Amino acid sequence: VGQNLLSLKEVDSTNNFLKNLLTNSKPVPEGTVIMAETQFAGRGQQNNKWHAEPGKNLTFSILLKPTFLSVTEQFDLTRAVSLGVYDTLCPILGSALKIKWPNDIYYGDKKLGGMLIENILQGNQIKSAIIGIGLNINQDVFPDEASNATSVKQILHKDYDLRLILAEICNNVEAYYLSLKAGKINDVRNAYLNRLYWFNEQKRFKAGDDVFEGIITGVKDNGLLVVQQNDNENTYNLKEIEFLNN
Ligand code: BTN
Repeated sequence: VGQNLLSLKEVDSTNNFLKNLLTNSKPVPEGTVIMAETQFAGRGQQNNKWHAEPGKNLTFSILLKPTFLSVTEQFDLTRAVSLGVYDTLCPILGSALKIKWPNDIYYGDKKLGGMLIENILQGNQIKSAIIGIGLNINQDVFPDEASNATSVKQILHKDYDLRLILAEICNNVEAYYLSLKAGKINDVRNAYLNRLYWFNEQKRFKAGDDVFEGIITGVKDNGLLVVQQNDNENTYNLKEIEFLNN
């Protein structure tokens, strides 16, 4: 991952760029990475926009071809990529770093970054995966509407080399990806749970109009979040549950 690296000054979205490459041109090698200094139409989860100050943060997309994964195993790819990003930042930031389900990177109660994985399916197989990652590295301040955001710089008060962090993420994502490929799915699943934000803690959630206390007890193979409430265990998808911090 990252051997074939294209660095763009400005693009709408690195995910879109990679998607267009796949449809328009000759074959794009697996592991190709597109990074951009500025995205003018960066996209986040759930149709949100992704904003990042030009040149200060990492915004990039990785192309993988996990044809060995079936549609029902898509969340294992999410796990592997989250872990690769996590393992890159953990030596710098320590154990306050967590993976917030499904694939946000959190430091304490603040968001450092996230990912948007867009899979192209062929029958029951994942033909290609466009893995877009946005990480706040050297941004000093965030607008009020992003009050929940933080950066490595805000935490450690120094600048980091974006290229070095990117190279390390590529190595770590590749390592977890190869674990998946080698069939070590349970190792990947366990590693993900071990780093999960709010795992096994009593916390407040909102599902529909219902605000309740519950405990995250697991994540289903297919990626649904399992929350225990009183004596019941319920499962939720991304749109169905919100974490309440206070
Ligand atoms: C989220 O947390 O909502 C996901 C954010 C994903 C942002 C990245 S930046 C690079 C890639 N290109 C995009 O348009 N989005 C992803």
